[in-house]
Amino acid sequence: MCGIVGFTGQKPCVDILIESLKRLEYRGYDSAGIAVFENGSIRTAKAKGKINEGLVPLINRGADNLYSTDFSHQTCGIGHTRWATHGEPSDVNSHPIGNGRVTIVHNGIIENYREIKEFLIGAGYSFESETDTETVVKLLDYYYDGDPVEAIIKVCAEIKGAYALGILFRGFPDTIYAVKKESPLIVGDGKTGNFIASDVAAIMEYTKDYYLLEAGEIAVIRPDSINFLDIHRRHVEKKLKTVDWDISAAKKGGYEHFMLKEIHEQPSVLASSMAVRIKGGLPDFSDCGLSPEKINSYNKFFIVGCGSAMHAGIVGKSLLEGLGRVPVTVDIASEWRYSDPLIDENDLCIVISQSGETADTLAALKLAKERGADTLAVVNVVGSTIARAADMVIYMSAGPEISVCSTKAYAVQVEMMYLIAFAVTFAKGKITEEKCREYTAELQKLPELVSKLLEDKADYQYAASHIMSAESLLYIGRGLDYALSMEGSLKLKEISYIHSESYAAGELKHGTISLITEDTPVIAVATQTALLDKTISNIKEVKARGAKVVLVTRAAQTIDEKAYDIRVNLPEALDIFMPIITCVPLQLIAYYTAVLRGTDVDMPRNLAKSVTVE
Ligand code: F6R
Repeated sequence: MCGIVGFTGQKPCVDILIESLKRLEYRGYDSAGIAVFENGSIRTAKAKGKINEGLVPLINRGADNLYSTDFSHQTCGIGHTRWATHGEPSDVNSHPIGNGRVTIVHNGIIENYREIKEFLIGAGYSFESETDTETVVKLLDYYYDGDPVEAIIKVCAEIKGAYALGILFRGFPDTIYAVKKESPLIVGDGKTGNFIASDVAAIMEYTKDYYLLEAGEIAVIRPDSINFLDIHRRHVEKKLKTVDWDISAAKKGGYEHFMLKEIHEQPSVLASSMAVRIKGGLPDFSDCGLSPEKINSYNKFFIVGCGSAMHAGIVGKSLLEGLGRVPVTVDIASEWRYSDPLIDENDLCIVISQSGETADTLAALKLAKERGADTLAVVNVVGSTIARAADMVIYMSAGPEISVCSTKAYAVQVEMMYLIAFAVTFAKGKITEEKCREYTAELQKLPELVSKLLEDKADYQYAASHIMSAESLLYIGRGLDYALSMEGSLKLKEISYIHSESYAAGELKHGTISLITEDTPVIAVATQTALLDKTISNIKEVKARGAKVVLVTRAAQTIDEKAYDIRVNLPEALDIFMPIITCVPLQLIAYYTAVLRGTDVDMPRNLAKSVTVE
């Protein structure tokens, strides 16, 4: 978690740092700070809270003399936006952290910080913050005798864990040093200066050209040069990359929130993402190595991810088992990695991750590899850690997802599950080529249907107005509808802060139904034809106990009006394709509920987009 940036160049750096940090706020917003060189000294301004609430007012007030002298000459600095791990969100635990000689920003976790801290206390150092990061500052200081690279090499040999560091050393006022292990870091190559950042979106306003820093590489960044060294101080030649999407993709584009914009992008990203994966009317993953021969060699399939990504995996399991008749285990990465899973060299482990940085998902992938299984990553962020660690990668091509709450990425993850399921089912000889084409063609109709759902949002707003005052509510469904209930419930609680649970509709009467009162609304998802009557019976059970029911179902379905209070209608598609359609109203009900409750939709409390801690 956390986002880091840095700029050194021919222009004032503070505005650049602040603007770049704002694009990284999705990575955490417990506090923010910057440190810049001013007349050879390192000046720091940092504050608890979001950038606009803490840091910006602080800078405007002239914090720490930041604007006290001729500010236009401050052209080198680093910045940080924090998701707290070690030490509560507070001014003192905010980054940058420094001691006058060395100042750093850090994304990651130093696992052996206690040991290092003890050693440094013995060496006469004292500590102000509760962070693991401060030990890195003091250890750098301990080894720093005028040669920054030497100090970095010595520190990297001692610290364990994940890190991306941006470092300023007094005595080198135009230079940013950077080093990384596991946490992501890119180095931007600009016309009027050079950058570091946790991702390219942060600096795209200024440059589209960047280098991907690899573990153990040190970058020495000056206004007109970038040098890469390995831990033996040998020069490393790196390939310059260019971002292939436009800055507008990382801006709100007239929408009130990124979440709403990203929901609206779904028809186009669903269409463009599948276009890359369909050739001659059939799913095609040959470019990532998932050939029919390979598919045929697998005995079992495992799908692992966290949160919404795992929910997409549940849909995947249902499709792979239902159509392909192959055994599939789906699990939460943080559980699976410690469960001693029954995976071996004859199996395929599919990991799903929008960010490609989620620590537990990465650990699950590594475990699968250790056990000899093939690994396939379904990832959105190109060049991310998970993408690079997997044997095969399917890039989702969903474009940047900025809102912390996943919407378009979830939809595309589900879409990829369909394509993988069709490819597996066909390769295993469970459907004919003609049937596979038919399924693929049906999938291609979905963007249009999703688009229709976005034309009129009155029903979602109406449903939101009915649940906005609830303290707690339930989402229920059966089969694929249960999988969608889980996702709908997660969206709602994540951004509206209303407690909600998803429940298998048939399981309610085994305990949970006692929670139902007239103050506990129920959102019932009922799209699966074969299960409809059963689900409707369960809905009537909660209705009879006073619950207000919002029913999400197909427009064409005839359902007793007494069974629900509000009905949200969906267009027609084959049962198996209903998840991609259903997710849209569920996202929008959550969205409008959050808006009505006045929460921070794009940056809900306590969360971060990229979860690089376990
Ligand atoms: C929910 C949400 C999270 C993520 C989860 C995994 O709206 O966004 O549940 O799905 O943290 O993140 P990735 O896909 O980046 O591994």
